[in-house]
Order: sequence, then structure tokens, then C-alpha cells
Amino acid sequence: MTGHRQRARLNREARHLAPGASEETAAGQRVFAEGAGALLTDLDGNEYLDFAAGTLTQSLGHCHPEVVDALTAQARRLWNVHDAATPGRADLLDLLARLLPGHLGTYAFFSTGAEVVEAALRVVQATAPAGRNRIGALRHGFHGKTMGARMLVHWDIGHQAFAGNSVLGYAPNCYRCPLGLTYPSCELRCASLVRKHIAEKPNVAALVFEPVQGAAGVVVPPPGYWERIAEACRANGVLLVADEVLTGGGRTGAFLACELLGIEPDLVMLSKGMANGFPFAVLAGRAELLRSPEAATAGSYASTYASNPLGIAAADATLRVIERDGLTERAAALGELLGERLAALHARFDRLGDVRGVGLLYGLEFVTDRESRTPDPDLARAVHTTALDLGLRTALGGHIIRLAPPFTIDEAQLDEGARLLELAIERAVEQVVA
Ligand SMILES: Cc1ncc(COP(=O)(O)O)c(C=O)c1O
Repeated sequence: MTGHRQRARLNREARHLAPGASEETAAGQRVFAEGAGALLTDLDGNEYLDFAAGTLTQSLGHCHPEVVDALTAQARRLWNVHDAATPGRADLLDLLARLLPGHLGTYAFFSTGAEVVEAALRVVQATAPAGRNRIGALRHGFHGKTMGARMLVHWDIGHQAFAGNSVLGYAPNCYRCPLGLTYPSCELRCASLVRKHIAEKPNVAALVFEPVQGAAGVVVPPPGYWERIAEACRANGVLLVADEVLTGGGRTGAFLACELLGIEPDLVMLSKGMANGFPFAVLAGRAELLRSPEAATAGSYASTYASNPLGIAAADATLRVIERDGLTERAAALGELLGERLAALHARFDRLGDVRGVGLLYGLEFVTDRESRTPDPDLARAVHTTALDLGLRTALGGHIIRLAPPFTIDEAQLDEGARLLELAIERAVEQVVA
């Protein structure tokens, strides 16, 4: 329940705040006042385990002391000098060079996911050989809300079609196979069709993809999917442009999901996992692309907040802790524990149609029944709000709930979150059935 102090604030801000909040914010009706580690506190003093880690951003938990110290120290020194060098930038570049695969040794800094996606699209456009004037992308992918990112996935709004100059291929959604097939007897037909596009359309410059689709509901590819597609891209001179805005930074149990899936990308976009919730993004790539005279024209990687010293300080502190404390490995180990707990929920509740995940990133699909697999957004919403009332925050989107706790969460908290989720599903199912 939303307490009275929160209700008063929400009523007050509603007079001026434009509506259009995220589904989870609209459903939750909370005013969060403080965060520490895996815990959030609302304005009425209620506590929540945050299994959404902010916006799947706070890998180290809320207000991690080392990130707070780094940001506070930087805030006292210097905030913005456009994209000029500041002392911390060289340190962060060296750190990234240690954490990322060797061939991704050149970096540019931005502030949000959509901004870095647009920057990657500009690099593709600038370096594409003559005649390669289209980009490949996957259906139901999400790359941000700027026009380029929307057009990439033909994201229609209202009556307006945003079909861009991109060719769409099938994502590996085995629970809802777009081809009506079943893995493994399908022999990865979805991947074969993407390969066909790549091999037969000589005008495709790059494939822009999420290695594990996030907003689509944590679509974990079956073995072999990316192998086939990556091989076709290589053979046909199509760049592999990995959108790891959500997956990058250790969340999947590897620093890049691409490493886990055996993909060697040419460009990678990272953001949510970089600076523990502070706006920051990194474009990482092969030197021959990011340093090419076509892409690296004057000002091409500059913007008002690109390379800003506060973001650099937050990213440097965050990534240093991840490296020092072996948190990527911890995300993998905790992910297995969470997976076991979620498998038990899947076995118990028929209305939980599918549970899938990798590392500390899970997607739960709620359905009206297992046979028809009809999405049940009302149930997902009821689970989300009931969980909040019980003291657990999750990420809601349509009929899917995503879980992405901080890597620093302890096992007791992880267990407690799973227990609260079980209770929330139990109560929500009773509620929607009644
Ligand atoms: C894979 C992916 N790319 C891009 C974005 C856009 O990031 P932002 O909201 O910071 O613009 C998101 C955001 O959720 C994302 O998940």
C-alpha cells in the first residue's frame, strides 16, 4: 500500500508532472526516498529488496560507498569541460582495456543508452562500403527511444510507421517461436533465415543486436543461434554491432554477454552496468572502425555530457569494484541460486508460463494457461504490485516481470526475495482468479 506521506507527494506532483511514466512506476505508486545496497526505503519508511537494481543499473547496489566517495570527490573538483581530457579519463580507458576483449581497444564516452546506440549507427553509416546502405536488426529488439534506435526495429507509434532502412530477422524466442517450431527439432530455422538475409542481401552493412534481448523478456538464445549468424556476418563483411546497454558490465556472468555466447563483435554499446546508476555510456570498438577517418571526424564523438568527469568518476569506481571483488563471477554464481528458486516457482504455478535467464538477469512470463500461452499482463501487474506491498521491487513490462538484483546482494537477501515473490504470485493468482 502507498503510505499517506507518499500519497500526498504523488497527488502534489500530479498537478504538473506529465503522465507517461513506466508501467512499473504507474502501477507501483511509490515515492522512494533512500537506497543502500539491495534495499530501498520509501517516504513512509517501508523497506524493499530491489530486484530491479534501479533500472537494471545498480550492479553494486544503491549508493555504494566507493562510488559515492568517487562522485563526491569529483563533484568538489570539476563537473563539465565539454569532452576535454580530465585526469580520470586515462585511468578509465586503461581499466576498460583490461575488462574488455583485446580487439575492442578503442572507446568513446556518452551519457545514455540511446545516445551510444545513435553513435554506433553513425559509425556504421560513416564506415559502410559503397552500396551497403541497410542495417540488419532483430524483431522485438529494443535499442532506445531516439528516432534512429526506433527505426532500426520498425517501432510503430500510433498511426505512424517508423519502418527505417533496416532488414529485420527473427530473434530466438523458443517459448513463442515466430515460426511455430520447437527447439531442437527446428534446427534453428530462425538463425538460418537471418543468415539467408545476410548472405543474400549484399547491401547490409551491419547487424545491430542484443545478444540476449532484454526488454522483449530476457530472450536467451539456444546454443548455436549466434554461432551461425556471427559466422555468416564474418563471411559476408557484415559488422557485428552488439547492444550490451543492458547486458554489459557483468550482469550475465561474463563482462559481455557476447563472450558467453562466443560472438566477437566489432562494436559494443554499454551503459546500464557502467556507472552504478549514474548516466554514462561507452562505445567500444575495433580501432580500425572508431579511429577511421570517416567515423572520427571533428566532433563526431563529442556531445554536451560525453566524457563528463562525474560519469567518468562513477564508472571508474564501479568497474574497479567489479574487477577487484570478482563480481562478474559472483553474478554467475548467484544467478544459479536464483535460477533454482525460480525453477521451483515455475513448477508450482501454472500461470507462470516460462522462466528463463542468464547470470543475474531473469524474465518471468505470466500466462492465462500453459496450453494457449496467452500473455496475462493483468496477472503480471498484480504480481508486481503485490510484491511491492510485501517489500520486493521487480521490473514490470506487459506480461513479463524481470529480475536483476545487484551483484552485491547476499544469499539471505536473495532467498528472502524469492520467498516474497512466491507469496506475491500466490496472492496475485488468488486475486485474479477470484
Ligand atoms: C538493450 C538496450 N539498448 C538501449 C537502451 C536505451 O537506453 P536508455 O534508456 O539509457 O536510452 C536500453 C534501455 O533499456 C536497452 O535495454
